[in-house]
Amino acid sequence: MVTLHDNLQPIRPNHYYALQMPDVSAGLLPVIPLDRESATPLHRQVYAGFRDAILRGDLAAGQQVPSSRALAAELEISRFPVLDAYAQLLAEGYFESRVGSGTYVSASLPHRPGHTRPSAPASGSSRQTSRRSMLFPPYDRLPWRHGWGAFGVHQPALDQFPFDIWSKLVTRHSRSLRIHSAHNLHPLGLEVFRDAVCSYLRTARSVRCDPAQIMIVSGSQQALDITARVLLDPGDEAWIEEPCYPLVRSLLLGSGVRPVPVPVDEEGLDVEAGIRFAPHARVAFVTPSHHYALGVTMSASRRFQLLEWSRQSSSWIVEDDYDSEYRFESMPIPSLQGLDPCDRVIYIGTFSKVLRPSLRLGYIVIPADLVDRFAAVRFAMDIFPSYLFQEVLTDFMRAGHFVRHIRRMRSLYKARRTALVNSLHTEFGDLLQIHGSEAGMHLTVTLPENTGSSDVEIATRAAKEKLWLWPLSTCYSTTPARQGFILGFGNTPEDQTPAAVHHLRQVLRL
Ligand SMILES: Cc1ncc(COP(=O)(O)O)c(C=O)c1O
Repeated sequence: MVTLHDNLQPIRPNHYYALQMPDVSAGLLPVIPLDRESATPLHRQVYAGFRDAILRGDLAAGQQVPSSRALAAELEISRFPVLDAYAQLLAEGYFESRVGSGTYVSASLPHRPGHTRPSAPASGSSRQTSRRSMLFPPYDRLPWRHGWGAFGVHQPALDQFPFDIWSKLVTRHSRSLRIHSAHNLHPLGLEVFRDAVCSYLRTARSVRCDPAQIMIVSGSQQALDITARVLLDPGDEAWIEEPCYPLVRSLLLGSGVRPVPVPVDEEGLDVEAGIRFAPHARVAFVTPSHHYALGVTMSASRRFQLLEWSRQSSSWIVEDDYDSEYRFESMPIPSLQGLDPCDRVIYIGTFSKVLRPSLRLGYIVIPADLVDRFAAVRFAMDIFPSYLFQEVLTDFMRAGHFVRHIRRMRSLYKARRTALVNSLHTEFGDLLQIHGSEAGMHLTVTLPENTGSSDVEIATRAAKEKLWLWPLSTCYSTTPARQGFILGFGNTPEDQTPAAVHHLRQVLRL
């Protein structure tokens, strides 16, 4: 078994790779403009090409350069001018040679940033981007989104992942590349993987599907994007939950679609309100198993109401089942898709929660008559995600490791969830209201009125102390937004929870 600390190193990739690898590619050849007709000898041209590339910062200190033989072959010249040029660069200290290893740009040269941007665009030249791109909300590197640690949302217990099994499978598939996986270009993804996903979904999620309806994508965010491209035109209306997963709103805005926020109460999406606000919306985007961010499970009567609305209005429902694997107090809730007699639900799932978000693997279950449209859109995007992890995950699932891992994580997360709820009660009494702690890898707390600061201000302050609080208000499309925090518990061991919650109290100043 790979140890906790070994596994956690990659979470700080710069640190990890600095120990093992130079941070620049070895043996890369800069563009060396050679003019065979020129009066300047070839060795001076090769010399000048390297020197200029180093001075511009295109070649970094410590970077390996090609061997003289390889460079001569690449430039289709004799080796002598290359040897002369290398000798000159060595003599002047631009290059250094390491015995038995090759020739490098001198490590002692000062670091130069690569190409620098011109300080101002040439006057009068247009640098206009599309109106469409301007519809997306700005990309902010929000501090709470990027920190790893207590309360981080969407952060699984990586140290508990069976990396030893996983890495053997990765090695096996990397070593034995089959022509089928090197060449097949099917926009639905790898067939054997779709089979494995299909049997999992039928059994564990009561999804009605056939492998031919499953499309493998790079996570549920891409699934939502492809689905919106297939179902919606600019100017169309789409229901979104209020509050909702913020990136659903972003992608709809970016597609020119008008998102219509529909309130969520203790039974889930208020379908009657949706019908009042936008009866002819083309699509409803919902998280019925575990609402993001309040954690509500949509009641049976609301599910039937929603299905009935979609039947009557010929609209579509997009079911984002992003973390259904983890329910702590009851059996898993069967999917909405499985209840739909009219095939109007597009079902979306992801491996981000059970495995890890950086894997970028998810899936769409597409109504049979829409598969061709989805495939056409997908093919014009990036065709499919890398086959390597699709193959690895197929074996991981077929051998039972996937289900075993879910089972282990369910009891681990349950214990971590309970520790968090208990600590919140101990530290805050009734000051904070807890929502949605029955499932998933996060719960939500709402703040009392008059805390003096907004949740965004508190989260910004907390991030400076390495406490990663996701402000609830950012999930709202309308004002006034409820103030609170989405608190992840997946990566926080129980014995660290009381200290983290105590820290939370200090940051909240309650
Ligand atoms: C409700 C919801 N939908 C979609 C996503 C996107 O997940 P991913 O693209 O990593 O599969 C998330 C991320 O956590 C989410 O919470």
